[in-house]
Amino acid sequence: MNILAIESSCDDTAAAVVKDGRTVLSSCVSSQIEMHTIYGGVVPEIASRKHIEAVYGLADQALADAGLGREDLDAIAVTYAPGLIGAVLVGVNFAKGAAMSLGLPLIPVHHVRGHIAANYITHPDLEPPVVCLCISGGTTAIVDVKSYTDMEIMGGTRDDAAGECFDKVARVLGIGYPGGAPMDKLAQGGGDSRYELPVAHVAGAELDMSFSGLKTASLNLIHNAQQKGEELDLPDFAASFGKAVSDSLVPRAMAALKARGYGKLAVAGGVAANSRIRSDLQRACAKTGDKLYLPELRYCGDNAAMIGCQGYYEWKAGHLAGLDLNAYATRDISLG
Ligand code: KG4
Repeated sequence: MNILAIESSCDDTAAAVVKDGRTVLSSCVSSQIEMHTIYGGVVPEIASRKHIEAVYGLADQALADAGLGREDLDAIAVTYAPGLIGAVLVGVNFAKGAAMSLGLPLIPVHHVRGHIAANYITHPDLEPPVVCLCISGGTTAIVDVKSYTDMEIMGGTRDDAAGECFDKVARVLGIGYPGGAPMDKLAQGGGDSRYELPVAHVAGAELDMSFSGLKTASLNLIHNAQQKGEELDLPDFAASFGKAVSDSLVPRAMAALKARGYGKLAVAGGVAANSRIRSDLQRACAKTGDKLYLPELRYCGDNAAMIGCQGYYEWKAGHLAGLDLNAYATRDISLG
């Protein structure tokens, strides 16, 4: 079963060919970061236009890299939600055209389900049920993955996503966009106890999180230091910030894991590349004896291989779309 998968939900255009769900025959990603860096964030209109320019050639490239022709394909999978609506629409329309012209089934894939599936690529032994901590630029949620296609949100952010918080703070520090990776790098040389930053608790919802207070406290700290002419110790600040984010995520992920008793925790999304969060989770799981699954770094950020992988399981469950498939900016993961 060869699936051509397309991903265009934010600022990466991606195409991949995945065989039988778990074997990645090719994975091509065309990043727009350079273009959006000028503006310090993703400009939706530019993102849509760049996806249009890239998607056709990238799909051909994915086929060529896989050593296959169009006649070797069995289905087309595409991210149809959530994301920047204009950007998602480009992928959806391309996928519809490809499915129609090649006479192939069209498989709609939820972007965050795709991020979770990145773990199946890295870990051939991993099968649901598993609890997954999904942390990206747009999502922060703890998901009970009951089966490949039956999922329930156990908790999540009430406001900003963890990645968004990294990006906004890094932008004010002027250390680059997107800000997660440079903050992570800076933090390696710093101590995490110099700056005290808040870790929010949501009363009555123990698995929920909030990052807006951390963002505001960080921005206030940076601005106050600037106004007083004081120099912020950047590595110490980045390490303190990374600790605050990790202290929000890790105990809740562990509590969710304990509540379900699966003994398996997976992590997904761009922020899953963060070294502090990875090592804190490793330590926590070593303590409880639970098994931790981390995706390879190249499959943490947006890519189409993860969409092809999840697409296979959606196809197996009979989740197909017609040519009236729409794109959605937001959509509950439990709805598929
Ligand atoms: O999964 P992704 O590529 O896109 C979405 O689906 O949102 O995630 C992008 C996010 C950005 O916010 C970026 O700053 C963050 O992942 N990120 C990181 C790291 N690498 C990427 N955050 C923290 N530490 C990192 N090493």
